[in-house]
Amino acid sequence: MLETLNTRRSVRAFKSDPIPEKYIRDILEAAMNAPSAGDERAWQFVILKEQALREEYAKLNRNVPSIRQSPVAIVICGDTSREKYPGLYVYDCGAATENILLAIHAKGLGGFWGHVFPETVANNRTLLNLPEYIIPYSVVPFGIPLNGLPPAKTRYDESRIHLNGW
Ligand SMILES: Cc1cc2nc3c(=O)[nH]c(=O)nc-3n(C[C@H](O)[C@H](O)[C@H](O)COP(=O)(O)O)c2cc1C
Repeated sequence: MLETLNTRRSVRAFKSDPIPEKYIRDILEAAMNAPSAGDERAWQFVILKEQALREEYAKLNRNVPSIRQSPVAIVICGDTSREKYPGLYVYDCGAATENILLAIHAKGLGGFWGHVFPETVANNRTLLNLPEYIIPYSVVPFGIPLNGLPPAKTRYDESRIHLNGW
């Protein structure tokens, strides 16, 4: 487990090979087993496979150009209708996004966390046909890494640790 946590890196170049459904299901199961506020699980997941749709997504979200190349991507969305604590969907979705990245890495695949910027939310909603109460939060394009995995590097930094208070 620690090995998986400490060796995960962002991968942004992919082979076109499709990803087996079982892998996608396992990755989504890991996402849905993330912690959430009061177990509210205020998340929904939109799977993007169609090439044309991923092309459109890349045009709207300039920060994730390699979604054109990845055979699949998961858009992690907040579901405000499921919130017990208004506003905490962001933490639920953050935990789910991280679990997705770790599950991808555990499978020997690669992917990265793409942000959904506030100014693109409305266009994302239109493109993906999302209801008003669903807020696109992040996107994780993934697939088989084109150039292998980037080398692990530790960023452990003792200067960030404060014992018994600052
Ligand atoms: C909240 C958040 C937003 C991010 N947004 C983007 C993004 O829009 N596009 C991108 O290519 N990477 C994005 N990243 C990935 C980071 O650039 C990456 O995790 C960081 O540079 C560390 O590299 P590593 O993932 O290889 O350890 C994001 C990461 C986080 C946590």
